[in-house]
Amino acid sequence: MTRIDDLGYPIVVTSNAPAEIAAFSKEQGYRRVVVLCDRNVEAGARALAARLRGAAVLAFPLGERRKTMTTLTRVLNALASAGVERTTLILGVGGGVACDVFGFAAATYARGVPFAAVATSLVAMVDAAIGGKTGVNLSSGKNLAGVFRDPVAVFCDLPSLGRLHERWLREGLAEVVKHGIIEGGELFESLETLAPHPLRKWPWETVVADSIRVKAMVVADDRLERGAREVLNLGHTFGHAIERASRYRISHGHGLSIGLRAAGLLARRTGRFSRAEHLRVLSLLTLLRLPLVSPLSDARGIVRAMEHDKKRRNGRVRFVLPRALGDVEYGIDVPTRPVAAVLRAVSEPIHEREGR
Ligand code: GLY
Repeated sequence: MTRIDDLGYPIVVTSNAPAEIAAFSKEQGYRRVVVLCDRNVEAGARALAARLRGAAVLAFPLGERRKTMTTLTRVLNALASAGVERTTLILGVGGGVACDVFGFAAATYARGVPFAAVATSLVAMVDAAIGGKTGVNLSSGKNLAGVFRDPVAVFCDLPSLGRLHERWLREGLAEVVKHGIIEGGELFESLETLAPHPLRKWPWETVVADSIRVKAMVVADDRLERGAREVLNLGHTFGHAIERASRYRISHGHGLSIGLRAAGLLARRTGRFSRAEHLRVLSLLTLLRLPLVSPLSDARGIVRAMEHDKKRRNGRVRFVLPRALGDVEYGIDVPTRPVAAVLRAVSEPIHEREGR
């Protein structure tokens, strides 16, 4: 078990989440626990609830397309029907969507009830559960409705990673690579060392904990994303726009991987980032079998999708670009022309002139 306390609430990376959660709930004196879960992980959530004096379990079909106000309303009504009070602990069990939607519901139900995330996917463990962002998508953009609200605890359930389809594990690795670029040292190098090895042999507790530490360090300095936290959106301005322009047929992890290539190329075009480091990032993503080529050819459509990005200021999209591994810059205003050129470039395979 690894415990990280840098954000003022325990983040527990563990192979025995039920025991850790039962101990936490007892120690904190919650009168009741209600478990909200993604239907995909309902069996595990029921086993967890059985350890918590028979806590109620409320299961919902989730997924990116269901990360909506309609689902949020359903969850809020279910909390009301279950008689949730401010002394009730809400456990949100599932992946990134579960953390975002259940966290938002707990933040707004009765003006806020205590919430702990039980992360069962890699994306949730290293990203969605950490740092207090909650929310849902609107038809006009991803995560456009939501609040910042810290959970009372986060539990990363390592055995869940063994049950994840390899594809989802690799998707989560795109976020870990992003943290590696931000950190630029040991985490990035350890990913390069691990990448050729089968995922089942990876030291997941260390990888997850190291990745969380990078995110926690950034969030601790700027919880409400007034500035420096924007570095965590590296690759996301392109990635979200690609996801949205594909009507979410391209998943978040795949959009992010392509987005990291695009951010590296835009950094190159605007006089940042060495070509050697750009290619190093691409080699790592390739070894991790993450995609680097966008199947969308409509660069203008993607630029339009970018216009819904939350990180706009004064109507302008602001980019997050690497200057070097370990040195990421945020709030960069770039004219549309190089952005469109980069989007055209990422719809082509990598060739020998990449990033020149
Ligand atoms: N996922 C980026 C952040 O939490 O700020």
